[in-house]
Amino acid sequence: MTLETPAAASADIGVTGMGVMGSNLARNFARNGYRVAIHNRTSAKTEAVMDKYGEEAQFIAAESIDDFVAALTPPRCAIIMVKAGAATDAVIEQLAERMDEGDIIVDAGNSLFTDTIRREREMSERGLHFVGCGVSGGEEGALWGPSIMPGGSKESYDRLGPMLEKISAKVDGEPCCTHVGEDGAGHFVKMVHNGIEYADMQVIGEAYDLLRRALGLKPTEIADIFARWNEGELDSYLMEISVEVLRQVDAKTGKPLVDLIVDAAGQKGTGAWTTQTALSLGVPVTGIGEATFARGLSSSPKQREAARGFEGKAEDWNIEDREGFIEDVRQALYASKIVAYSQGFNEIQAAAEEYNWDIKLGDMARIWRGGCIIRARFLNDITKAYEKNAELPLLIADDFFYDKIVGALPHWRRLVSMAALHGVATPVFSSSLAYYDGVRAERLPAALIQGQRDFFGAHTYKRIDKDGTFHTMWAQEGRPEVEA
Ligand code: 6PG
Repeated sequence: MTLETPAAASADIGVTGMGVMGSNLARNFARNGYRVAIHNRTSAKTEAVMDKYGEEAQFIAAESIDDFVAALTPPRCAIIMVKAGAATDAVIEQLAERMDEGDIIVDAGNSLFTDTIRREREMSERGLHFVGCGVSGGEEGALWGPSIMPGGSKESYDRLGPMLEKISAKVDGEPCCTHVGEDGAGHFVKMVHNGIEYADMQVIGEAYDLLRRALGLKPTEIADIFARWNEGELDSYLMEISVEVLRQVDAKTGKPLVDLIVDAAGQKGTGAWTTQTALSLGVPVTGIGEATFARGLSSSPKQREAARGFEGKAEDWNIEDREGFIEDVRQALYASKIVAYSQGFNEIQAAAEEYNWDIKLGDMARIWRGGCIIRARFLNDITKAYEKNAELPLLIADDFFYDKIVGALPHWRRLVSMAALHGVATPVFSSSLAYYDGVRAERLPAALIQGQRDFFGAHTYKRIDKDGTFHTMWAQEGRPEVEA
C-alpha cells in the first residue's frame, strides 16, 4: 500500500517506530477509540503495518516525519518507540525541529533515566514537554494493556495521562498508570522494575535448579510444582510462564526444550543500570545485583570452560522428606523475593531524595499489579503495606512481610546451608538471607572496617559513647586518640 498525505491535525496521538512494540501500542490506542498517526523511518514498515492492521484500526499513516507531525492535533503528542540511545536522540531532534511550544514528545523505550533528565532539560529549554515513559508488558502488554510509568511535567500528564490510563492494564478497575514524578522519574522506576524482574527470574531459576538437582525431578514435574505454587502467594506472571517453558517439548527431539536451550542468559542492560545506580546511591540491592551477575557468569564461556570439572567437595543429595524440601525451596524463594522488592523500593526512595522526585511507593506497587512483567498477587500486599505507612523505611518492616520472613526463616536457613553443602550456587537465595541478617544485626563488623580505614588512611571514625569525629594516632607511642 502507498501512503497518502494525511489531513493536518487529524490525529489525537502519534507513534513513531513501527517495530512490534510501537505498532502494538498504536493498535492499543486505536482500539481504545483514539485516532493514531503512525510513522517509521523507513516507510515500508508503516506500509506493512497498514497492510496487516489497516482494517482493524483507523490509522493515519505518514510517510515523512513532516506529515507525521502535521497530522497531530495541537498540543501535539508524539510517542517514540525506537532503540534507546542515539536513535532516540535522532528522532527527538527531528520531532523537536517541527514542533511548537507546549507540544509533547514521549520516549516510551527503555532509556537510561539520566539521558531522560538531560533530554527533558533540553526540550523544556525549547518550550517542549518531554516525557520519559516506562512501558512494561512486552508485546502482548503493549497491545492489550501495559503497565505505564510516565515521568515529565505534571502539565504534560494532564494531556497525556488520560490517554495512557485508558490503554493501560486495569486491576480492580484501576489503571496501571500514574504520573510517577518529574523528568527522569518514570524511566528510573521502569529501570528498577526491570532490575526486580531480573531478581524475580533468578529466584525462580534457583528454585528450579535445586528441585532438579536435589530431587532429580524432570522439568515437567517441576512445572507441576510451580503450577501449584502459582495458586498461592507466589502467584505471578513469571511463575506462570516458567510453567509453560518447563512443559515445552522440542518437536524434533522429543526432549524438554529447556534442556536444549544454551544456558547463557542474555541482558540488554537495565539490570546492570539498576545495580550501577544503586552502587552510586549507596543502596544495597543485593538481589538485583546477584541476579545480574548470575547472568554475567552464565554468559562467560571462557571462564566456565576453564572451571569445568573443578572439584566441589560437595556432599551427595539424599533427601528423605521430599515434600519438606519442596516447602523449604518455596519459602526461600518467597523470602528472597520479598527482600529483592524491599531493596528495589529502597533504591526508588533514595533516588527520589537525590533527584527531588515526589514518588509514591504505594502507587508504584499499584501500577505494577497488572500489565507488567513482574505482575503478581504479591503486589497487592505491597500496595497495602505502603497504604498503611507511606514512609516505610523497609518493606520487610511491614507487619505482613515481616511475619512472612520470620515464618520462612527456618526453611530459608536450612535450604541455603544445604545448597552450600551440596555445591549448588544460589546467589540470590543466599545473598538475600545475608542481607536480612545484616540489616537486623545489632552490631556489624563495619566498626572494624572503620578502624582499618582510620589506621591506614586517617579516615576517622565516630564513637558510640560520645559525639564528634575521632582519629587514633596509630604510629605514635601509646596511640592517643584525637578529635578530628
Ligand atoms: C518489560 C520488559 C522489557 C524487556 C526487557 C528484557 O518490562 O516489558 O522488562 O522491558 O523485555 O528489556 O530485558 P533483558 O533483555 O535485559 O532481559
